[in-house]
This record gives sequence, C-alpha cells and structure tokens, in this order.
Amino acid sequence: MGGIRRELQRSRGVNDLARAFMACDYIQFGCGLSAPPGWSNFDIGPSFWLQKRFPFLKAALVKRGFPDYPVDAIEVGDVTKGLPVLRGYAKAVYCSHVLEHLTLEEFRIAVRNVYGYLRGDGLFRMVVPDLEYLATAYLSDQSSMAASRFMNDACLGEERLPRGLRGLPRAVFGRTRHLWMWDYKGLSKELAEAGFTHIRRAQMGDSVEPRFSEVEDASRWENCLGVECRKRPL
Ligand SMILES: C[S@@+](CC[C@H](N)C(=O)[O-])C[C@H]1O[C@@H](n2cnc3c(N)ncnc32)[C@H](O)[C@@H]1O
Repeated sequence: MGGIRRELQRSRGVNDLARAFMACDYIQFGCGLSAPPGWSNFDIGPSFWLQKRFPFLKAALVKRGFPDYPVDAIEVGDVTKGLPVLRGYAKAVYCSHVLEHLTLEEFRIAVRNVYGYLRGDGLFRMVVPDLEYLATAYLSDQSSMAASRFMNDACLGEERLPRGLRGLPRAVFGRTRHLWMWDYKGLSKELAEAGFTHIRRAQMGDSVEPRFSEVEDASRWENCLGVECRKRPL
C-alpha cells in the first residue's frame, strides 16, 4: 500500500514537473499587452501578476488605469529567474523593449537563459531603444532643451521622487525607467559572450523566420535597435 502511495506521489511529481516546464516552440518574454496565439507569452509585471493570480481584482485595477491584460494568453514568467519552459526546445525567442528594463547583471542572466531555451540553430530576436541614435540626436541638438529631451527620450532619471501615497503604486507596480541601455556594438559583444553566433543588426520584418511578423510591431521598431542572432548548431 505504502508502495502504491509512493508511486502515485512520484508520478504526480513527474506530471507536475511536465506541466511546470512547457514545451514552447515560440517564446516571447516581457510581452506586455501583445500576446498573439501560437506564441508562449510571458510577463512578470506586478499589475499583470495581480490580474492573473487574483481575477477578482482585474476590474478594479483596470478602472484605476492599469492595462487590461489578456491574462489567458500570458503566463507568469521572469526571464531573469528562469521561464517555466523546456530547455533546448524553442525555435525562436522574441522580446521587445524589455532588456533595457534590466540591470546589467540581470541582462546577462536573461541572455544566458534564452540561450538555454533555444534548440541548436534557434533564433533570438530583440528590439531595444538605440542609445547611439539617442546620443547622436542629443549631440546634434543645440537647444537648451537638448539634455531634458535626451533624458525623456531615453527614459532615464526621475523628474521628481514620487511622494507619499501617490508614489506607492509606482514603487510597487513599476520598473518603468530604463536601467541599462544598449548600442549595437555593446549588445552584440554581450550576445557573442553568451555563445550566440550570426549576430546582425535587424530591421523589422527581415527575419528568415516568418513567425516573428506575429509579434513585431512597427511602432516599437522605429528609430530603435533590432538585433537577431542564433544559437550554435548542436
Ligand atoms: C516596456 S514594456 C514592453 C512591452 C511590450 N513588449 C512592448 O513592446 O510594448 C516591458 C515589459 O517587460 C516586462 N518585464 C520586465 N522585466 C521582466 C522580466 N525580468 N521578465 C519578464 N518580463 C519582464 C514588464 O513587466 C513589461 O511588461
């Protein structure tokens, strides 16, 4: 009897594990509101997390101006802690305007995690704000507003510290500012150090993988830095 119970517990454990690690061909992390079918979409934003875990809070949060997440199409997953996906399985991974919200240390963990999720020859495609573009615009702007414009466009710094209760939602719900920014040279060096090959600057819609068109959004690529790379074939 004890043996049967042990076996049941063991198989339940195996099933839980199989459920916990999803077999995903196409992974998007930091998806925000963009969660097309056919992709395994992940996010970890606190407002999304609350809506997913406590559906009864959704209406109140949306009424207060928080985004209305399509929670059924998104799973909870933090790319720096590890997404609940099988390793060595994915054909492609995409992220749009996520990496600049990570510290440098988190970025390095995230990129290595992505490398692990991909099968040999799998593609990693990303778009981030282009620090070089923003810095060039700043240097060629002779007006007294140049510095403020740069800080705003780069989403760096804080105009003022949020105070009192008004600041609370921001402190709890948001990492909205950029923590580390990238130009092509720096980003491609990091990707190479994580093991990626065939690193190239990408333009919207130029991938050999047609499924990226399902997650790419033109407004997120304008004046931004797109990069695509491959995992080494196994
Ligand atoms: C600026 S939004 C971009 C949303 C969407 N990808 C887009 O391009 O509009 C950044 C998103 O990344 C998510 N994010 C930040 N850090 C993350 C992490 N470590 N793992 C997964 N998602 C993360 C945030 O919750 C947020 O939804």
